[in-house]
This record gives sequence, C-alpha cells and structure tokens, in this order.
Amino acid sequence: MSREKKAAVKAITISGVALLIAVVTTACSESEQSIQATETVAESQILPEITVYKSPTCGCCTEWEEHLRSEGFSVISHEKNDMNSIKQSLGVQPHLASCHTATIGDYVIEGHVPAADIKRLLSEKPKVAGLTAPGMPRHSPGMQPPGEKPSGYDVLAFNKEGKTKLFTQY
Ligand code: CU
Ligand code: CU
Repeated sequence: MSREKKAAVKAITISGVALLIAVVTTACSESEQSIQATETVAESQILPEITVYKSPTCGCCTEWEEHLRSEGFSVISHEKNDMNSIKQSLGVQPHLASCHTATIGDYVIEGHVPAADIKRLLSEKPKVAGLTAPGMPRHSPGMQPPGEKPSGYDVLAFNKEGKTKLFTQY
C-alpha cells in the first residue's frame, strides 16, 4: 500500500471511530437528560390545596389532616358543626359517609383516604365525583399511629349518583 493510501485508510478509520464515539456520547447524554427531566417533573409536581371540613370535636379528622401535610399537601381546614349539610351539598350520600369531607380541585374526598390515593386520583384524573373510605376504618391514616400502613379496608371511587367502584384495596 502506498503511503498516501495508508494515510487515507487511517483517516477514515479515525473519523469512523470518532463518529461512533460521537453517536454513543449523544445517545448517553440524551438518555441522561430525559431521565433528569422526568425526575424534575415528578419532584416538582405541585399538589393543589385540599380544603377539609370537619366537626370541631373530631380528633381523627385532625390526625388525617396531619397525615396529608406530612405527604406534602397544604390543607385548608374549616370547622363545621353541620357536617350533614356539607356532605349533602357535595353529593356524599349516607352510604358513602365518614367523618370529614374534603375537596381538591373538582374532586370530593370523604373520610380516611390515604394521601397516596389522592395523588393517584390527581394524576390519573378518572371521571368520578371523588373517593371515599366509608365509616371509620380502624387501620387508616388518622385512625392509627402515623407511619403505619393502611390495612383492612377499601377506598372507593364514587360518581354523582352514588355508585361506587373499588379504587384501592388495603
Ligand atoms: Cu375519622
Ligand atoms: Cu375525620
């Protein structure tokens, strides 16, 4: 092979390697960027304020509010003596009812619904009126010591007619 040819082959090989490196580097930095972007979106997911109505004497309601705050929600709390009329006006029928009633965006949250379900509701945005944990489930946030896992009850999605669908089983 002549000197010139050798040099030309070398140059092609080098540029080929350089191109390969460039492609790999671009691919790497692109995937890194998209991972970073996803993390930033997840971390900066701003939770809308939740407005809670509760009776002034309800201890488990206050505990539930604390649970929400510890999960990153800002809670606006209203003490009301006539919870029944609030439930009625928000479409919480008696078979769906618990102690406190809350609103977040267009959704109604009734009773001891874990913060995780509210977050899921906000991200999935199903066409429902809201979520409820009817009654006073013993092993639910607000009813048990903070940090314990919810267990032994269902969180239901309900519509304006009061029909329910299982949302999460604990
Ligand atoms: Cu309660
Ligand atoms: Cu309550």
